[in-house]
Amino acid sequence: MLYFPYLCISIWVLGFPVRTSALNENVDVLVLLPQNSSYIFSISRVSPAIEYARQQLANGHFAGLNFNFQYVSSECGVDALFALVDRAPDERPDLIFGPVCEYAAAPVVRVASHWNIPVMSAGALAYGFINKNSEFSLLTRTAPSYMKMAETFAVMSQHFGWRSVLLIYHDDKEERNCYFTVEGVHVLLEDDHDISVFVMDSREPLTYVDELIKPMYEHEVVIMCTYADVVREIMLNAHRRRLTTSNRLFFNIELFNSSSYGDGSWRRGDRYDNEAKAAYAFLNTVTLLRSTKPEFENFSMEMRKSYQKMGVDVCEINMFMEGFHDALLLYALALDDAMKSGYTKKNGKEITQRMWNRTFEGIAGQVSMDANGDRNGDFSVISMTNHETGSHETVMSYFGTNGSLQINPDFDPKLFTVQGAPGPPSSQPTDQSSGGLGLSAVTGIIVGGLLGTALLMAFYFFRKNYRITIERRTQREQCDGKHRQLREDSIRSNFSAA
Ligand SMILES: *[C@@H]1O[C@H](CO)[C@@H](O)[C@H](O)[C@H]1NC(C)=O
Ligand SMILES: *[C@@H]1O[C@H](CO)[C@@H](O)[C@H](O)[C@H]1NC(C)=O
Ligand SMILES: *[C@@H]1O[C@H](CO)[C@@H](O)[C@H](O)[C@H]1NC(C)=O
Ligand SMILES: *[C@@H]1O[C@H](CO)[C@@H](O)[C@H](O)[C@H]1NC(C)=O
Ligand SMILES: *[C@@H]1O[C@H](CO)[C@@H](O)[C@H](O)[C@H]1NC(C)=O
Repeated sequence: MLYFPYLCISIWVLGFPVRTSALNENVDVLVLLPQNSSYIFSISRVSPAIEYARQQLANGHFAGLNFNFQYVSSECGVDALFALVDRAPDERPDLIFGPVCEYAAAPVVRVASHWNIPVMSAGALAYGFINKNSEFSLLTRTAPSYMKMAETFAVMSQHFGWRSVLLIYHDDKEERNCYFTVEGVHVLLEDDHDISVFVMDSREPLTYVDELIKPMYEHEVVIMCTYADVVREIMLNAHRRRLTTSNRLFFNIELFNSSSYGDGSWRRGDRYDNEAKAAYAFLNTVTLLRSTKPEFENFSMEMRKSYQKMGVDVCEINMFMEGFHDALLLYALALDDAMKSGYTKKNGKEITQRMWNRTFEGIAGQVSMDANGDRNGDFSVISMTNHETGSHETVMSYFGTNGSLQINPDFDPKLFTVQGAPGPPSSQPTDQSSGGLGLSAVTGIIVGGLLGTALLMAFYFFRKNYRITIERRTQREQCDGKHRQLREDSIRSNFSAA
């Protein structure tokens, strides 16, 4: 019995390659994140995680690595690019962390790839970054991208046999998280599903709730990415119109703020709570799988301590903190490998190649990087399991590393199988009405019918191959259209190329 611990220790020691020379190197890291702590990936939130990783490295095999972090505030605009290009050639960093926002990340990754500097981000999650062949060649994404999340839907759809999908999201025209989230799903499902897309202006999303009913009738699966309050309105409305039946499934994507989902997410303390609880019995949420590794508890506690010290209000450890933490570990491993092969820290391409297609132990468990330098993701699907109390539980999980869907044994698969084909509502009041109605009433009905047709046609444009999305635009936005188009082009996303 006594031998057992010794055995473990000797394996532990042998686990590291015996080295003739320790890794001694100074590494300059430029961290490009927002100062404004209203971002959940602000400097004040992410820096303690990076610092935690640095200390872990300093206590172990990588004690000779000396990281100099330089934090430069960059919001979601162009500041990050300027922070980088304003540097003289001999002041360029060895490594860049961030940016997270897609539109800030795109130009930074282009310039850094051109300068042979590795970029690691727990953001830049959009589909557009997947092509690493040219301009994004040195980007490594250490948090699961939207495409990885979308695999969850692809696998579920294959398993349960879904055919038609309605995607609903709001677009703020700034960071556009929901736009990029839904884009991932669109890209993965478009080939073998009948897909429609419904966009809401983020400033007045509630005005669209009624319009949403018609397209819902025509689809088996409704997938939403929008504010929690809007999700509630949509669910209430769908429930009132009896759309929450066994021939329709509702999903909500909530990746970054999962604490707000699950138990009691329907509750607002208003008079609709009971109705909302009944409606939420039909709502499922896709979110990141939560980790339970013991080391993660220590990490969480240390993070909370740092936030208290700084006076930052943080209730949960999010994927950005985890992703940047793991990024530093991955960089150390890759730099070590590259230097053993005779390359220097300035050879970003060689270092980056060694980050891809490998697995290592991250703070929340095993991290698996795919061969394209993107982290595989694990996601869970949460549904209401107790209709009395309205509480939620994970009913299935998707593991990105092996692509498997693990369904809880007590989950009834019929709940995710669409019963019968959906069709438009059968009510066609125009047919019976032309008889005894007065002129004005008939006119009203015809106008109504025309509007209905226009709406229907609009939705046919949304169908695959067209990739056109209709947005209700205000005058000002139309003027901004050109500008926005440029910004969209700048990450070359298929979704945005209408
Ligand atoms: C931080 O961001 C929030 C929301 O975007 C904004 O209201 C606030 O003015 C910003 N604060 C600073 C100091 O820029
Ligand atoms: C997360 O959800 C909580 C509870 O719904 C909400 O108060 C908070 O503002 C949300 N945070 C973000 C960043 O969306
Ligand atoms: C976390 O682990 C470190 C050692 O790795 C230790 O010094 C620290 O006290 C631990 N923190 C907590 C809250 O347990
Ligand atoms: C990834 O690594 C495995 C071995 O770990 C290897 O068999 C495979 O060819 C690698 N894939 C690529 C694309 O490099
Ligand atoms: C896939 O990976 C998960 C987590 O690593 C594991 O629990 C599961 O058993 C694996 N499934 C298959 C089919 O290999």
